[in-house]
Amino acid sequence: MTHRENFGSKLGAILAAAGSAVGLGNIWRFPIETGRNGGAAFILIYLACIILLGMPIMMSEFLIGRHTQSNTARAYQKLAPGTPWKWVGRLGVFTGFFILSYYAVVAGWTIEYAILALGNQFSGQTAQDFPRIFTEFSSHPVKPVAWLIAFILLTHFVVVRGVARGIERWSKVLMPMLFIIIAILVVCSVSMPNAVSGIRFLLYPDFSKVDGNVVLNAMGQAFYSLSLGMGCLCTYASYFNRKTNLMKTTAQVCVIDTLIALMAGFIIFPAAAAAGYGLSPDDIGPSLIFITLPNVFQQAFGGLPWLAYVFSVMFYLLLIVAALTSTISMHEVVTSYMAEEFNLPRRRAALIETSASILLGIFCALSFGALKDFKLFDKTIFDIFDWTASNICLPVGGMFISIFAGWYIDRKLFRDEITNGGTIRAPYFKALVFILRYITPLAILAIILNQFGLFRL
Ligand code: TRP
Repeated sequence: MTHRENFGSKLGAILAAAGSAVGLGNIWRFPIETGRNGGAAFILIYLACIILLGMPIMMSEFLIGRHTQSNTARAYQKLAPGTPWKWVGRLGVFTGFFILSYYAVVAGWTIEYAILALGNQFSGQTAQDFPRIFTEFSSHPVKPVAWLIAFILLTHFVVVRGVARGIERWSKVLMPMLFIIIAILVVCSVSMPNAVSGIRFLLYPDFSKVDGNVVLNAMGQAFYSLSLGMGCLCTYASYFNRKTNLMKTTAQVCVIDTLIALMAGFIIFPAAAAAGYGLSPDDIGPSLIFITLPNVFQQAFGGLPWLAYVFSVMFYLLLIVAALTSTISMHEVVTSYMAEEFNLPRRRAALIETSASILLGIFCALSFGALKDFKLFDKTIFDIFDWTASNICLPVGGMFISIFAGWYIDRKLFRDEITNGGTIRAPYFKALVFILRYITPLAILAIILNQFGLFRL
């Protein structure tokens, strides 16, 4: 067994986990889902999912990973030798491979937009031009595929450099920068003329539109945004040291992730309202950040073109970084699994994952252009991947993780891990076990069965 690395510092561990959680899920996907599912009411259900499902499951993943110090499949084998529990880990590895393949498509778009921003291509364009620019690019037969490949290769190189040197160092500097830029953009966006209807959309819930589908989407988004349900944070926690306070880290990651998602909402919707795009993504297609945001930069800093330039360049560069810290975490799940389970050199394991994801990703990239009309259940290849992974694979993974943590793991071991061997207090211990045993698995099951019409909520 090779020596396993550790994150070098407490801050490094938190930022790496937050780096995994914060990404396109917050800035690109959260506004889409919020738009599709009716706004404020969706956000409230989403927040409930973060607290009731997300936090307990994140604790469980941290605990399982740090205790076993192994990749996610081995982790279950160590805690439950000779049982089928290892399949939960394997499901996670599979889901990670799946998600990386289509996630990298959107991540590739961010490279194109960073280059457009660098070349000052947004200047002088109006609100009507941006939808066209996006459609032309995303349906192009070559460009999105090239950027997809570039992005996965970028991920590959960070992953082969290893955990501390690669992942940690990047996260430490760039995450705080992203946060600051986003905060500034919120202020710009909400103060644009006519932004009010966008703000109202985010603040006044209309529960009449809520159905089982909305709840399923909110749950899927919670898992997706927190990187939960596939052993991603479990793998990262295997690099935590014994002093990391698991509960505190959970709370910090959840707060940071949720704040950034909400802030992204407060950038996109007021800005979309101000540009006259309408608030339902049906009006403008599913890619708000690539249409609304370039327009924000032009409008908000119109009087000062250099400021518009600086902001759009910084924003898209940081978005690349935010996406990269997330793709790294997915890649790492598969790479560490293959390296440790099949005894491959890390480099070779990473190469296999990279090639496989590129191959699958190409189909997803083309589903905005050449393969646009190839549909199943009225969804493109990209949408099928996205829907299945986030609404089914992740929640099912999360359900098993909570059952495993609540029912299977020895109570003493559980308490030992969350109190770091009795050195920190954990007054919430009983409540946490109760939630993991009864609330979380039953809620997930009910929401999924409801969707398939097997059960009525
Ligand atoms: N949470 C990340 C985001 O919001 C994406 C991500 C990284 C992810 N690792 C994951 C999603 C594992 C699901 C599972 O962009």
